[in-house]
Amino acid sequence: MTVSVLFVCLGNICRSPLAEAAFRAEAERLDLQADIDSAGTGNWHVGHAPDPRAQAAAFRNGVDISYLRARQVTHGDFGRFDHIVALDAYNLADLLALKPRDCRARISLLLDHAEGRKGEPIADPYHGDDTDFDRAWTDIMLGARGLAEHIAAEG
Ligand code: 4NP
Repeated sequence: MTVSVLFVCLGNICRSPLAEAAFRAEAERLDLQADIDSAGTGNWHVGHAPDPRAQAAAFRNGVDISYLRARQVTHGDFGRFDHIVALDAYNLADLLALKPRDCRARISLLLDHAEGRKGEPIADPYHGDDTDFDRAWTDIMLGARGLAEHIAAEG
């Protein structure tokens, strides 16, 4: 069985590309067949590569996200994905407002999948420095690992 997962932040150039990469690594580790993507609620960065600081943070952690390109969430995503995972509470609220009545996806917050971190956001590192991007990666990895393990346990 293939599970499909979409990660959503604001710009799709910092946090959600990192989440896409972190979840891809965890899915491979657990031998989970997964269709993985990311998107932004906003449209300012559509077509752009991830922020160079996000690319550098990914690279420090052994993953390449340079090939990714930003896109905006679409109505079709709610029917296409099994899971849509918001990076913070603003993204979650925007997704719930956009959600069509016939939504197929299960919508959740990334850190709800990490032990003891329920309800916490992945802080937006956009106005921060490399330390903030490294912290974002660490937290994103916790959520991605928990989500992948929950999905693998469901079968
Ligand atoms: P992201 O970060 O939502 O993690 O991709 C941001 C990227 C761009 C902006 C804000 C947050 N912006 O205001 O352009």
